Amino acid sequence: MASYDVIVIGSGPGGYVCAIRCAQLGLKTACVEGRETLGGTCLNVGCIPSKAMLHATEMLHEAETNFSKMGLGVSKPKVDWKAMLAYKQDTIDANTKGIEFLFKKNKVDWLKGWGSIPGEGKVKVGDEVHEAKHIVIATGSDVATLPGVEVDEKVVVSSTGALELGKIPKTMVVIGAGVIGLELGSVYSRLGADVTVIEYLDVITPGMDAEIQKTFQRTLKKQGLKFVMGAAVQSVSATKTKAKVTYKLKKNDSEETIDADTVLVATGRKPYTDGLGLADLGVEMSERGQVKTDAHWATNVKGIYAIGDAIAGPMLAHKAEDEGMAVAETIAGQAGHVNYGVIPGVIYTHPEVANVGQTEEQLKEAGQAYKVGKFSFMGNGRAKANFAADGFVKILADKDTDRILGAHIIGPMAGDLIHEICVAMEFGAAAEDLARTCHAHPTYSEAVREAALACGDGAIHA
Ligand code: NAI
Repeated sequence: MASYDVIVIGSGPGGYVCAIRCAQLGLKTACVEGRETLGGTCLNVGCIPSKAMLHATEMLHEAETNFSKMGLGVSKPKVDWKAMLAYKQDTIDANTKGIEFLFKKNKVDWLKGWGSIPGEGKVKVGDEVHEAKHIVIATGSDVATLPGVEVDEKVVVSSTGALELGKIPKTMVVIGAGVIGLELGSVYSRLGADVTVIEYLDVITPGMDAEIQKTFQRTLKKQGLKFVMGAAVQSVSATKTKAKVTYKLKKNDSEETIDADTVLVATGRKPYTDGLGLADLGVEMSERGQVKTDAHWATNVKGIYAIGDAIAGPMLAHKAEDEGMAVAETIAGQAGHVNYGVIPGVIYTHPEVANVGQTEEQLKEAGQAYKVGKFSFMGNGRAKANFAADGFVKILADKDTDRILGAHIIGPMAGDLIHEICVAMEFGAAAEDLARTCHAHPTYSEAVREAALACGDGAIHA
């Protein structure tokens, strides 16, 4: 048994970042993790491996479509599936080992095993009970399955199984046109699979700016993805090698079926707090299974905090990281803070899609007077040279004060470009502040500046 200032349960982006920050602030810290490796869903079976697969298949697509246009003669690229999976595993290993190194460097103890909280100030791992003045729940989320759909991780898979299929399927059905469905659907489409996405709503990526949704869906269709919209999946029946998906079309209530080698269930995730003993402790939970917290990530039980996917808010690694740092600072007596109004969202398809702040629809609903500055990548020299001119930057600013209220980008490196707008928003900048900032030429970033210019007297290259 050991005694700590802080024990963090879970080593995903929320938990490991929290543990490191606690240690940096002089608190004796341990982090509980039952997986063989640190890093949680994100590093082991989520963000990192999916980005490796997206990168590899994007390179494949680039070689197949654009190399010859640039005078580069290569023989038709071949996919060595085993080698691609090995590359993905190497990427995971490098990242998870990196966290282990950071734990050692910062003197964070890794308590190996699954943790539970047998009482206030106590964390049980295996047979040992450790003491902690503060306990942070950072146990993340798990796949939200659908009634009538059993995930076997072979033929009917979640994102986890989709990252280690035995072979590339010829046909794939993706249930859910959200982030996971579109990212992994893109991966297999580029690898040659015939991919059909079935979505309950009439739009893809619910909650996103409507103009982006439309352009994004059109772009994905051009790339070969098929969509069945307004369709509720009823059930999936599977053999060892095939599956049949039954869905009901909302417009006429008709029931249809579609066969596939692989079915990816990507209909959302739910908070994961199983086995922690929260009910016995009396920790308050929401109807959606999230741990309830106050503005300082404290639960109703003294000394117990929660962050990340286990609590309310977007299920994003970087939101969890920010909460992890902020709760560490709060525990250390500082003023931890997260600005929930400026959390970017990124979809790592090709082109990427990124957003921050409010959508045009949200502004309309709130009755906010706003102006729109838009700029197409067609007017960006670098994008044209790189065959990356599909898409646009859209900045929404207050009609009277010019303060930036939101930004939406579909285009090359959108996930990186969004951050200058995030910084601007953190500083309460006006669109004119961005527009008057010198941007290097030729860069994709110039498209952001042009969109900011379009909020005022007009873009130059439009
Ligand atoms: P999601 O919530 O993004 O999308 C789920 C989709 O499934 C929705 O469009 C929903 O309408 C649809 N759906 C639900 N039930 C259905 C049914 N019976 N039939 C047809 N369609 C149905 O969930 P997703 O993609 O599984 O992602 C889970 C979480 O992981 C999200 O919170 C997401 O933000 C996060 N994530 C973020 C990534 C990123 O930031 N790049 C990457 C991967 C995941």
